[in-house]
Amino acid sequence: MTVIDIIEKKKIGKELTKEEIYFFVNGFTYGTIPDYQMSALLMAILLNGMTDRETFDMTEAMLRSGDVVDMSALGGTVVDKHSTGGIGDSTTLALAPILACCGVYVAKMSGRGLGFTGGTIDKLESIPGFDTALSESEFFDVVKRVGCAVIGQTANLAPADKKIYALRDVTGTVNSIPLICASIMSKKLASGSDTILLDVKYGSGAFMPDPQSALELASKMVAIGTIAGKRIGALITDMQQPLSDHVGNSLEIIGIVDVLRGKKNRLYYEIREVALRLLALTGKYTLATAEEAFQNAIDSGKALAKFAEMVEAQHGDPDYILHPELFEIGAQELVVAEKDGYVTAMVAADIGRAVTYLGGGRMTKSDVIDFSVGVIMHVAIGDKVRKGDVLCEVFHNDGRGLQEAKRLIRNAITLGDEKPAEHKIAYAYVGKDGVELY
Ligand code: URA
Repeated sequence: MTVIDIIEKKKIGKELTKEEIYFFVNGFTYGTIPDYQMSALLMAILLNGMTDRETFDMTEAMLRSGDVVDMSALGGTVVDKHSTGGIGDSTTLALAPILACCGVYVAKMSGRGLGFTGGTIDKLESIPGFDTALSESEFFDVVKRVGCAVIGQTANLAPADKKIYALRDVTGTVNSIPLICASIMSKKLASGSDTILLDVKYGSGAFMPDPQSALELASKMVAIGTIAGKRIGALITDMQQPLSDHVGNSLEIIGIVDVLRGKKNRLYYEIREVALRLLALTGKYTLATAEEAFQNAIDSGKALAKFAEMVEAQHGDPDYILHPELFEIGAQELVVAEKDGYVTAMVAADIGRAVTYLGGGRMTKSDVIDFSVGVIMHVAIGDKVRKGDVLCEVFHNDGRGLQEAKRLIRNAITLGDEKPAEHKIAYAYVGKDGVELY
C-alpha cells in the first residue's frame, strides 16, 4: 500500500479499507505524510464521499490519535451536548447548570470562537477570574462537587482532528459531511460522556445551508455514535438568525442570566428542547418528566444559583452572575428601521461578522477579544416594524469597527411587505430509531 495508491483509489470513488484510513490518519498526524498528500485525499473525500463504515473508521482513527477521557470514576450519568456552531449560541452556559440540577453530570469541553462564530470558552472568560484551563483532577473534582464544569479542550484530545481541521480550513475541504462528522464525533467520543445530544444547525449562520443537509449530517453522526455504544440523538435547529438576542461575550452571559431568571425567548425554547431530549436520552426521564424537572430548575432559582456555584468553583466571581449589571459594556449606538415592514430575513453570519469588527471575535487565532462589545437584537424574523423603530443596539469601544458593524447589520436585516412563514426553532429530531419531524 502506498500513499499515492490510496489517493488514486478514493479519486475514482472506491471504498477505503480500515488499514488504509488508519495508515493515512496516523501518517499525517505523526508527520510522515505531508500536507499536500493529505490535502489531495481530503479533496477526493469531499468530492466522492465516504460510506458509513469508512466514516466510522476515520472517526475512530482520529479519536485514537490522543487521550480518551474516562469518566467512569464519577459514578453517574455523564451527558454532553455539541452544537455545530452559530451566532448567539450560548445554550451550553444555561444547559450545564440546568442539567446538573436535574441530577446528571455535565463535564463539558468547549471550544473558542473563530471567524464570525462565538465560542463558549471566550464567553466564560468574560467573567472575571473564570478559569477554563483547570487540571484534569480539578475538573473532575468540580464536576463531582457541583454537578457541572466547562473547560477548554485539552491539547491531546483528538490531535489528528486539530491538524486535519487546520488543513481543511485552508484547502476548501471544510464542507464535507463525512469529514465534519469524523471531526466532531472523534472529539465527542474522546471526551468520555455516555449520553450525547448533537445540535446540528442550518441556515445563514451555520455550516449546513438547509435542513436537508443538516439532517444528512445528523443521521451520519447518530449512526457513528450508536455504533460506538453511546446513547445519542440530534436536533436539527434553525440558525437563520442569531439564537440569542444578545450577541457578544459579556452580553451573552447577561442573556443567559435572563433565561435562567425565566425570560422566555428563542434561546429559552432552544435550551428547553435540547435539555428535554438529552434528559430523555439518559433513560432516567420521559419527555414529560424532563419538562417538569427543567421547569422546576428554572422556577425555583436553583439553576441560576448552580451557575453561580460553577463560576465560583472555577475561580470566577459569582457576583457577576447574580448581578450581571456589574459587566462593563461598551458605548451604545442604535440601528433603526429605514421603512415600515416585516422582518423577512436575516444574514446571521453578518451579525456575527459585525461583532467581530467591533472586537468581540477573532479574525486570526492570536487576536485578543474585547469582551465588552456586541449587539442586542430588538427584532426577529416575522416581527413588524415601523420606520424609526430600533432594530438593534450596538455596543462599541471608542468607535472601533462601528461604522462597518452598523453597515453589516443594516444590510443583514431584510424588511419586506409580506409577513413571512413562521420560523420554528427545531426542524427535526434524529434518534437511533429514525427521524421525527417537528
Ligand atoms: N465543527 C468541528 O468540530 N469540525 C468540523 O469539521 C465542523 C464543525
